[in-house]
Amino acid sequence: MAGAEVFLSKRVQEMILNGEKPPAPYICRDGDSIQEVSAPLSPVPIIDLSLLSSSTPYAKQEELQKLRSALSSWGCFQAIGHGIPTTFLDKIRQVTREYFEQPMDEKKKQAKGVEEFEGYGADPTPEEGQFLDWSDRLFLDVYPKDQRKPQFWPERPESFRGLIEEYSFKIKTVTEITSKAMAKSLKLEENCFLNQFGNQSQYQARFNYYAHCQRPDLVLGLKPHSDGTGYTIVLQDEEGLQVLKDEQWFTVPKISEAVLVLMGDQMEIMTNGIFKSPVHRVVTSAEKERFSVVVFYAPELNKEIGPENGLINEECPRLFKNMKDYANIHWEYYQKGQRALHTAKG
Ligand code: OGA
Ligand code: NI
Repeated sequence: MAGAEVFLSKRVQEMILNGEKPPAPYICRDGDSIQEVSAPLSPVPIIDLSLLSSSTPYAKQEELQKLRSALSSWGCFQAIGHGIPTTFLDKIRQVTREYFEQPMDEKKKQAKGVEEFEGYGADPTPEEGQFLDWSDRLFLDVYPKDQRKPQFWPERPESFRGLIEEYSFKIKTVTEITSKAMAKSLKLEENCFLNQFGNQSQYQARFNYYAHCQRPDLVLGLKPHSDGTGYTIVLQDEEGLQVLKDEQWFTVPKISEAVLVLMGDQMEIMTNGIFKSPVHRVVTSAEKERFSVVVFYAPELNKEIGPENGLINEECPRLFKNMKDYANIHWEYYQKGQRALHTAKG
């Protein structure tokens, strides 16, 4: 797909600055589906994580029940009461915006190779016939710490590194609380998922810039996909992310104090299919640009994961095999525009 490579070495932001219309490799929609862009406002469930620790047993049980129900139907929830102050979330939103607003030359100091993952740019070239995402991003390995590649960590804005550091640490705490809560909601030992993720579990951060587009009806900021992670935490500043449920796209509303917790395929495997890894996508807007910070949380490298024994019984037979480095298989299929979960079946 020689055409796509040419575009992948160029940033969407550059095309916008030049006033260019979306070129062919980005056109993935037929332009007749404007309706979808204003998908119904969603009742994506909201879970107050603070109720899971410090409240009365009754309130706690009720919230755990809500959590389980949210993840079995939607596969995601808006987390509030997670302990990260909204003022801090706003700082992360702000510094992300400032990063992308810098001149192109500044960002190109973190430029990635077209076929590489880390750094500033776009995803590696997809398989022939696949469309390109209308977005630019900065992708960084965050934990384990020894996997960080400092050359990709921006020195400007000056506060950026420190804030990423602080944000990742706080998100790590949120994942610990969430993993335990998910286990309890399924009446499992509270550390079971944390054990599956392992001591060297992986956190990768992706800072996304979804440029506005003259023709939002023709492109997508991010193509429909499910995540290959254990699960994913999304911080957004504007609406644009949509989750597929009952064959309908639902927009994830903007709630300034919330982060979205979204199941990836590996949580679907570990819960033996009880929690769903939802298909989601990002639509673009004609007027507004959008920024998001996404943290991908996945089991440590080479670690075998599989359905929790406590979730397998006569009524609920084992649905998935044990898998190792599922993210790699997921990526191969992702590049073909396909899901990979079926490879774990059986
Ligand atoms: C992703 C993703 C959503 C967003 O990066 O996998 O789904 O809002 N991102 O950026
Ligand atoms: Ni995703």
